[in-house]
Amino acid sequence: MTAEYKVLGDVAVITLANPPVNGLGFSTRTGITDGLSKALEDAAVKAIVITGAGKAFSGGADIKEFGTPKALQDPNLLSVILALEASTKPIVAAIHSVCMGGGLELALGCHYRVAAPGTSVALPEVKLGLLPGAGGTQRLPRVLGVETALNMIVSGEPVKSELLASLPGQKLFDKLAASPESLFEEAVEFAQSVAAKDGELPLVRKLPCKHPQGDAYFQFARNMVGGMSKNYPAPLKCVDAVQAATQMKFDDGMAEERRLFTALMFTPESLALRHLFMAERAASRIPDVPEDTPQRAIKSVGVIGAGTMGGGITMNFLNAGIPVKILEMKQEALDRGIATIRKNYEAQVKKGKLKADKYDQRMALLSTTLAYDDLKDADLIIEAVFEELGVKEKVFNELDRVAKPGAILASNTSTLDVDKIAAFTKRPQDVVGMHFFSPANVMKLLEVVRGKETAKDVLATVMAVAKKIKKTAVVSGVCDGFIGNRMIEQYSRQAGFLLDEGATPQQVDKAVEKFGFAMGPFRMGDLAGNDIGWAIRKRRAVEYPDMKYSRTADKLCELGRYGQKTGAGWYDYQAGKRDAIPSELVNKMIEEHRKELGITPRKISDEEIVQRLVYALVNEGAHILEDGIASKSGDIDMVYLTGYGFPIWRGGPMHYANQVGLYNVAEAMKRFAKNPRDDASFWQPAPLIRKLVAEGKQFS
Ligand code: 3HC
Ligand code: NAI
Repeated sequence: MTAEYKVLGDVAVITLANPPVNGLGFSTRTGITDGLSKALEDAAVKAIVITGAGKAFSGGADIKEFGTPKALQDPNLLSVILALEASTKPIVAAIHSVCMGGGLELALGCHYRVAAPGTSVALPEVKLGLLPGAGGTQRLPRVLGVETALNMIVSGEPVKSELLASLPGQKLFDKLAASPESLFEEAVEFAQSVAAKDGELPLVRKLPCKHPQGDAYFQFARNMVGGMSKNYPAPLKCVDAVQAATQMKFDDGMAEERRLFTALMFTPESLALRHLFMAERAASRIPDVPEDTPQRAIKSVGVIGAGTMGGGITMNFLNAGIPVKILEMKQEALDRGIATIRKNYEAQVKKGKLKADKYDQRMALLSTTLAYDDLKDADLIIEAVFEELGVKEKVFNELDRVAKPGAILASNTSTLDVDKIAAFTKRPQDVVGMHFFSPANVMKLLEVVRGKETAKDVLATVMAVAKKIKKTAVVSGVCDGFIGNRMIEQYSRQAGFLLDEGATPQQVDKAVEKFGFAMGPFRMGDLAGNDIGWAIRKRRAVEYPDMKYSRTADKLCELGRYGQKTGAGWYDYQAGKRDAIPSELVNKMIEEHRKELGITPRKISDEEIVQRLVYALVNEGAHILEDGIASKSGDIDMVYLTGYGFPIWRGGPMHYANQVGLYNVAEAMKRFAKNPRDDASFWQPAPLIRKLVAEGKQFS
């Protein structure tokens, strides 16, 4: 059992002890009811305190148990809370650090609550596509008022205990402890004081629950919430559940909450969000790098190149309070780079997103140099110079010469071989790829590219650094394009074939955006610059002369239509604006090209467009797993969710394929292979997909 029981004088103490966050799994629930029975049987015990060991009171229901029989096995969370309410001896929740979800619901089932200042209090179920399912929607409005409670439930955001304790009329906390350190002692004293009192024990369920404007308020709330959460059913269901609290008797409201909770549990959106929660955390674990691998200290950073990427990379570290020295070849380049960083920060200050003094503090951490010797003390040096192997060679030769022993040398290359770059030094074990995405100060994704000689402590350190600078880091092996760009190449190739066969850029973009991508492939090309893909295709044409692809994108670039930066790409753009206007010229160019190829255009359904683009990602993703470039399918999903605008509520390409069913995905691939305009060899389902289909399994 993962809850401990002890008696201190006349107070029994039940301590949740299920690290890391005291999730309320079966063994913890059993521990609570077991402790409760002992306390009730022991005549010497006059009151009970429930608290949590370690870094949380409780992070809520055990997410890992969801969907397994254990989640419902008695005692379930509802029956535990009922048992607490029924206790004839007063129960005090001693709340600290984190009190979330089922943890807060458990506390609301206690007679009293004493909280430490600084506790993060939340009902975050909505972030998992759920609503609080153990009375949160019924009890929180009774102690905080309908509006405050509904805001917390619909946003899922944590609120600090001291703020909640200061709200007029709040009944959530009976006492705010002086400090986290004194919480336990104060809670025990509080328990003794209430034990000495006569009279009925207070229960949250008995408090009234009304909003003065009644249903009109809920209509207003629905309008607000509906607009903000169009792809997610949970937020509106949260409103329904809280409204039920104001309209129904407590037990009926509880039944309604349960009904809504159970229905949400099986929605694809909730499955996707729960997958995301787990995958995000699992991404930081590298199978052969133990969690206790020692890390190198990173107290200062060097960045080579103050261009598009160097500037954004630098900002990440300044934001995290880590000093950065940028090196460039010429003073003008440094001045330009620093001016861009300043401009970015000033825009944030203007928008009220950054305080002026914070801006000054960040800029004070920044220094510049033209001399490599000035980087001799840096703990981590990230190179972001031109994408040419010869240039990288010069840079890494210099770094090898000046960097102190043990410094980590990283390259932000997006296409070059990290092993070759590592070989430019005499310390390949210290070299790693850190592939940021543009704009590097905004995009969450960081592909950490593991060279064949990269040391384990280098990997462990870079993963920890990524967390510090608030990136989602995913480890990729060395291959052309790493995980993300290797897959996007297949997606883009399909987009090109679709144009040749009869679709327009607008139709493709619309279909994909309707599926949920932030941007379709052609709008994305115009934003990133169509010349980037052009350069890659030219290289590919030499490396793989037989590779089949549509020439339409090349023709576009031959017209100088690189995208937004040239004012024209797949779409037309008005000066200074980003709105994509369908281009007659481009559509004519596509038609001409079809004629050259002798293709009679056909009507292509949106369903086919989406399937070909998304399943292209899935098939290449499967090859990436087979090749050991990614260690788990969740990592691929994280890359697509955080770096490529894949719709969050669909959980990433590999999760989505699992949901569609790999058998169905493989059958569609076989159909696409029969299309003479497509690439039949690419559409052979990857051996991993065939194996999983044969075994009736999914990507794991
Ligand atoms: N159940 C099981 N494991 C949990 C968990 C939970 N509720 N919450 C966190 N964990 C695990 C994580 O998976 C991770 O495990 P790992 O080390 O094996 O990867 C570990 O705890 C640490 O998590 P974080 O890396 O997120 O640690 P932080 O210290 O940054 O954050 C936290 C801690 C604030 C508790 C954060 O983990 C969090 O927000 N957790 C989710 C809380 C939540 O959604 N609770 C509601 C659950 S649903 C519910 O209660 C239903 C009920 O209404 C019926
Ligand atoms: P950029 O052209 O904007 O900036 C490169 C900078 O490096 C220039 O300021 C240049 O003066 C400087 N530089 C060149 N050689 C140098 C040297 N020997 N020593 C010091 N400074 C030198 O290029 P960008 O876009 O920032 O790309 C940099 C790297 O990041 C490339 O490897 C690129 O592939 C990679 N990358 C680019 C992304 C993008 O979207 N732009 C995304 C992810 C990675």
